[in-house]
Amino acid sequence: MDARVTAHARYTIADIDKRLYGSFLEHLGRAIYTGIYEPDHPTALPNGMRQDVIDLVRELDTPVCRYPGGNFVSAYNWEDGIGPKESRPTRLDLAWRTSESNQVGIHEFAEWAEAAGTEMMLAVNLGSRGLDAARNFVEYVNHPGGSQWSDLRRQNGRAQPWNVKLWCLGNEMDGPWQVGHKSAAEYGHLANETAKAIRAFDDKLELVVCGSSHSDMATYPQWEATVLDATYDQVDYISLHMYFENYEKKTSEFLALPEKLDRYIGTVSGVIDFVKAGKRSKRDVKISFDEWNVWYHERKNDAKRMREWDWPHAPVLLEDIYNFEDVLQVGCIINTFIRRSDIVRVACIAQLVNVIAPIMTEPGGASWRQTIYHPFHLASRYGRGTALQLDVDCASYTADVADAVPYLDIAGVHDGDAGTLTFFAINRHGSESANIKLCVERFGNIRSVEHTLIKHDDLEARNTKDNPDNVAPRKTTDAVVEGNDVRLSVPPYSYSMIRIQL
Ligand code: AHR
Repeated sequence: MDARVTAHARYTIADIDKRLYGSFLEHLGRAIYTGIYEPDHPTALPNGMRQDVIDLVRELDTPVCRYPGGNFVSAYNWEDGIGPKESRPTRLDLAWRTSESNQVGIHEFAEWAEAAGTEMMLAVNLGSRGLDAARNFVEYVNHPGGSQWSDLRRQNGRAQPWNVKLWCLGNEMDGPWQVGHKSAAEYGHLANETAKAIRAFDDKLELVVCGSSHSDMATYPQWEATVLDATYDQVDYISLHMYFENYEKKTSEFLALPEKLDRYIGTVSGVIDFVKAGKRSKRDVKISFDEWNVWYHERKNDAKRMREWDWPHAPVLLEDIYNFEDVLQVGCIINTFIRRSDIVRVACIAQLVNVIAPIMTEPGGASWRQTIYHPFHLASRYGRGTALQLDVDCASYTADVADAVPYLDIAGVHDGDAGTLTFFAINRHGSESANIKLCVERFGNIRSVEHTLIKHDDLEARNTKDNPDNVAPRKTTDAVVEGNDVRLSVPPYSYSMIRIQL
């Protein structure tokens, strides 16, 4: 299969917000306890955080991390997680039917985030609680001192405010599974009033209002229209979520799902424009795609186990073990975000450690990179700069979700400071290589090219503690420069990063 891809210096999409490579940690399963926090672990710091995990997160270079949920936040009392650890209550977490010891709260998470080189993106509880708890939490986190909540923070050992910029107004409030689930009108009103109170404290904060939990929700996309109509003047982002499943084990259908993601983004972008026009507003609202990933490997087992268990603390839950096929999917998802980076400004892989995550840990033992760590890592490290509007000419196939799915999924980023052009390319063809001709126009001369490939003959291949590099990137020498073109051939079902030095 031949593919011709043209990048032209004048055809750009947007300057990518680095928070496109954000992540998410929820009090869920072993994400926090024995994930990032394990006081008895051989690498534990004096504050109980695992240094081995911090090292992997630093390497991943995720600029923002959403916390503390997820479904968990909708019945969470943030005050349970402050003050002396021995006095913190154990609570029943209604979202995951587990016990929460509250040994990690905002202070511990903030210290971890700083060590891991990531900024906090905090969610307030608009399920079981509301405006009052939210405004107190914001004051606790961001006010320097001289008020009840900020002075309490100081008493608890943190003099400086954390100055968290990005705040989520609840989580998935359209979902009947959510504690305190609301109709769009009820939620829109509450979110707007909460946003006004937070803005009265600091109108520079960035606020994220809940959109749909996924695009198959019965209330989608009317939910977005109603909620935005109620909140448009107060919010900066609308949050979307999507998880990708392959229960049928049909790779071509699975790898076509990013077309559905693209339509979801396009539709919500249209709803934003519709509400904006109706209000004659000059304000821009963008998308925060703050939960996305492959999630199905353990999902049905987990749902059954959860129904049967007796409120365990930090159980194994949502520990999907990813395979090579998921590398291709994660690559296509991130490419979709890059191509939509004019409207998707923030995106968070869900989640970061142990729970549907790129990083796995063993209690008391090793930590390692899942297969999906690699495409995320390469994009996060090298996918910063200006997203390019590529012209792509290649064969396509028909799938359930779209009629013309290009076999070659490719996104391009120009980093003017580094003088590089980086392309992320997934060959969705199962039996043919893609012979790619990359034409580079008006960027100046090409000095060199590097090709990094992730390929495994077995789509089911996984990384484990004992075989952590089974699926991993390797450099090849097969990309060649011909004048202002680059030529290379990428194998069937493969992920590539092509990096051109200008
Ligand atoms: O990430 C797992 C769960 O998925 C989150 O708690 C929730 O927001 C979503 O339904």
